[in-house]
Amino acid sequence: MTKRHQNDEKTTKSQNNDKPFESFGVTGHSWDGVSEYNVPAPRWWLIVWIICIIWATIYWFFFPAWPTLSGNTKGSLNWTKYSELNKEQQEIEAKKSVYLEQMTNTPLNEIAKNEKLLQFALNTGRSAFRENCSACHGQGAQGAKGYPNLNDDDWLWGGKLDDIYQTLLYGIRANHELTRANQMPSFGLDKILKRNEINDTIEYVLSLSNKANYNANGEAIFKANCVACHGNEGKGNQALGAPNLTDAIWLYGSNKEDLFYTIYYSRAGVMPYWKDRIDNNTIKSLSIYVHSLGGGK
Ligand code: HEC
Ligand code: HEC
Repeated sequence: MTKRHQNDEKTTKSQNNDKPFESFGVTGHSWDGVSEYNVPAPRWWLIVWIICIIWATIYWFFFPAWPTLSGNTKGSLNWTKYSELNKEQQEIEAKKSVYLEQMTNTPLNEIAKNEKLLQFALNTGRSAFRENCSACHGQGAQGAKGYPNLNDDDWLWGGKLDDIYQTLLYGIRANHELTRANQMPSFGLDKILKRNEINDTIEYVLSLSNKANYNANGEAIFKANCVACHGNEGKGNQALGAPNLTDAIWLYGSNKEDLFYTIYYSRAGVMPYWKDRIDNNTIKSLSIYVHSLGGGK
């Protein structure tokens, strides 16, 4: 008891104006002989506390604060995160709908004349491509074996905007009555040509791009069986989707085995149709995007 009392003596200066604790009196409670001084809270603390109360009252007046059974008090500004978000979204939608309406009313070939509309179409096309096309054509539209590269200016079915648009609308050998349908015969499977005749034709075809020596028998077979689609000089025909056989670009590879497979079985690559699956404005945008990739005519 005496020891505690001595300690008290050393620390009996309160933070309030350095007055000794004794000067505030005691609360009157006493526990096992220990009593409590009636010291007020420090001034700085009181001031902060009062500021907080004032701030809270103002906040409560203007902003949503108290929960109620049906939601919360609204506050006089009627502000919510949702109203903020709604406002922003309405602005975006309003801008978008202006462009969408322009897209609908502008013929495909005139969209590029309006710089802002063109940018809108390119952005829409780019993201729609990632979503719908990159699985087959690759993220950068670079293609793969059997899936054409869309960046070059070598086109199976034509690289004008209208050609691309038609390819997208109806697909290629797809399940649509207006699809691009022409197909190369299976010369081996259907016993139109014998194996050695196919091999001679391969020699001749490869000689067109200087990858093999000229083969006279192959040329005769080519002239009799292939020129209807691939043209007299093997340069192809975009109306029929028949590739140019004289350049360095090969959809199915340029090995003799690749060519043998193509001529023996034929390939008949399928590209899905997109009409009714994607809205027309997006198909227009995709056409413009693909056309812009570098190879558009
Ligand atoms: C299921 C795979 C697949 C998907 C998905 C696909 N394509 Fe294709 N696409 C093909 C194939 C295969 C061809 C080549 C068909 C042929 O041999 O004629 C092709 C051809 C094309 C062509 C014609 C190229 C030319 O040289 O004439 C264009 C343009 C095209 N695709 C664009 C697209 C776009 C844009 C999308 C997305 C909306 C898309 N494709 C989605 C498989 C696909
Ligand atoms: C009825 C039209 C038609 C005839 C006839 C035809 N082709 Fe084709 N050929 C095509 C089409 C269409 C393709 C593209 C196939 C595809 O994309 O699936 C093609 C593709 C090819 C390819 C692949 C080119 C590449 O880039 O990989 C070769 C090689 C080829 N044909 C050679 C021949 C030869 C040789 C003959 C004659 C023996 C022949 N074709 C006759 C329509 C034809």
